[in-house]
Amino acid sequence: ADTNTTRDEKLQHICQLLQDNISYYNWVGFYFANHETKTLHLGPYVGAETDHTVIPFGKGICGQVAESNANFVVPDVAAQDNYIACSFTVKSEIVVPLFVNGKNIGQIDIDSHVIDPFTVEDERFLEFVNEQVATLY
Ligand code: SME
Repeated sequence: ADTNTTRDEKLQHICQLLQDNISYYNWVGFYFANHETKTLHLGPYVGAETDHTVIPFGKGICGQVAESNANFVVPDVAAQDNYIACSFTVKSEIVVPLFVNGKNIGQIDIDSHVIDPFTVEDERFLEFVNEQVATLY
């Protein structure tokens, strides 16, 4: 239990650091997969509260990444049909899977209030962040 508290606190700090330092990272959070029930569960996050604390695999951008094991960059959420809207202020999104020993255990999810802000550098950076997070498991 103690190690879990510590890990969640670290994840919370990572979310806060990212949101504080990157102007277009407006909502930053982690979702974790339950492979038995095929659902994602919201972990530590910063930004607006969301109703979407549990997301079935396949549903929305997050649910699609749970199945594809690939980064998903959405320049304009209005152009996506399999998308779960959290807030009308959100214009774009990036989701990068979190691998531990090759297994997709969850993801980092970032929402932005601007259109098309995410570059390949964000993808490489968030992959690096997730590699550091993976060392906590
Ligand atoms: N927009 C996401 C849902 C999660 S919220 O962004 C926090 C999606 O389509 O999966």
